[in-house]
Amino acid sequence: MPKTANPPPSAALAPASPQSDAGVLVRPAVEEDDAWVDYLQALAFGPGRFAKAAFRVRERFPIDRSLSLIAEIEGARVSSVWMTPISVSGIDGYLLGPLATDPAYRNRGAGKKLVREVTRMALERGQGQFVLLVGDAPYYGPLGFVPTRLGAIVFPAPVDPARVLVHCSDPALAHRLGGPIAAFGARDEGSGADWTDSTDKSSG
Ligand SMILES: CC(C)(COP(=O)(O)OP(=O)(O)OC[C@H]1O[C@@H](n2cnc3c(N)ncnc32)[C@H](O)[C@@H]1OP(=O)(O)O)[C@@H](O)C(=O)NCCC(=O)NCCS
Repeated sequence: MPKTANPPPSAALAPASPQSDAGVLVRPAVEEDDAWVDYLQALAFGPGRFAKAAFRVRERFPIDRSLSLIAEIEGARVSSVWMTPISVSGIDGYLLGPLATDPAYRNRGAGKKLVREVTRMALERGQGQFVLLVGDAPYYGPLGFVPTRLGAIVFPAPVDPARVLVHCSDPALAHRLGGPIAAFGARDEGSGADWTDSTDKSSG
């Protein structure tokens, strides 16, 4: 394994935990889920969600609907995740989120199972090399997400740079990624650069 100093290497995807997510079924989202996902995201993130950095990215670059997943428990929809194809530094990858679980079904393993599944599915395609997100390290760290270089990746709205985390198969990549978020497939590092860096707190 190549040597890296800081941030630490991306761990392999943590194995599923049959005990903690027993009974959680993951399936692709379909059109009939759209209204429920809207409702869930509103419930989880509130009316201010559209101003958040990750939401602003998704306004500009469409989500990949084939990487939209739903978790169910006992036949009820409980959790949802989306992925947006992006590139940074001319390297293709994905922005994960929003991830949300119905408050009535939290702490039953649905959120982490969706993160594991959607990350595995995206990277197994072999077209993107990383999965980026804005979120809490204590939640995503055990799933193999590590910090990026502080402030290196430029979002379209303020983010807390300590919450910009990435999962990549090449551990050195977490250090190398920098610059504005651009379209998947963009090879010009400046092609997404009509927004500027800042360091306030935001997520989603
Ligand atoms: C974060 C969220 C998606 C977790 O969903 P979930 O289905 O309850 O997640 P899981 O059941 O897989 O994991 C729950 C575990 O993570 C922990 N956890 C939850 N949120 C956490 C956080 N922000 N930081 C650290 N740990 C967290 C829980 O305490 C629980 O720990 P335990 O397994 O030791 O009991 C859900 O709380 C949610 O929808 N929150 C509001 C929206 C949000 O913040 N989304 C993430 C944005 S990046």
